[in-house]
Amino acid sequence: MPRERKVVVESLPDDATRLAAELCKTIICESVAQRGRAYIALSGGITPRATYQLLAKTAMTGAVPWSQVEVFFGDERDVPHDDVDSNFRMVQQTLLDYLPITPSQVHPMPADAEDLDRAAAAYEQTVRKIVPARADGRPCFDLILLGMGAEGHTASMFPCTPEALEEKTRLVVAHFVPVLGRRRMTFTFPLINAARSVIVLVTGDDKANVAATILDGDEQAKSKLPAARIAPDDGQCMLVLDAAAARRSSFRPA
Ligand code: 6PG
Repeated sequence: MPRERKVVVESLPDDATRLAAELCKTIICESVAQRGRAYIALSGGITPRATYQLLAKTAMTGAVPWSQVEVFFGDERDVPHDDVDSNFRMVQQTLLDYLPITPSQVHPMPADAEDLDRAAAAYEQTVRKIVPARADGRPCFDLILLGMGAEGHTASMFPCTPEALEEKTRLVVAHFVPVLGRRRMTFTFPLINAARSVIVLVTGDDKANVAATILDGDEQAKSKLPAARIAPDDGQCMLVLDAAAARRSSFRPA
């Protein structure tokens, strides 16, 4: 089945983060309605904070069946979960602390473990145990929310990090990221591209060059950008941008 890619450009960053929140809500509600549970993996960084704050508001309205949702993380920094740089801490403070959700439904990445390779393999086993598999055996998330760095990284797969980028078998890896001088734990593309829906939320002028390449560039230019490899095998990929991030591309606000 052809891969479906949808691009939506919103005029303002708040409109983009609001659209991302609406899309997340819709996907979660449809997944629970159709299959009784929703399996999601969230992104770190700064951009999705506002989306998580909007999703947190659903706790008061009951609009989302959070008690039926399993929450995973697409990547994590090599810091404790209470560290200011932790993606888990950011998601906990903007979203999870407000939700009617039990700790057993939340699966932080153990990216501060002593043996990171062993911890990544263990996290993969947790994903395999909890997230229902497709016919090819890969766990199928209902939703993976991703961001994109100004140099084209997504999750914690950065340009020139072939150990993660070229991984074809392992679904979660820990690897050294030279540009950061640190190790990261991350989903790999075999797992990302097994998802039913992937939302890539990109805002800000600093993303304009790389977004233009992702949206309009030739294969050669795109081949250097990890985010260009987000292509669900038979799921949908929705790229949500604000006008600033899309300004060098051929896409404009509706
Ligand atoms: C992280 C994220 C990462 C993020 C991009 C964009 O650990 O930082 O998971 O992949 O999505 O770096 O970050 P911003 O949203 O902060 O620009």
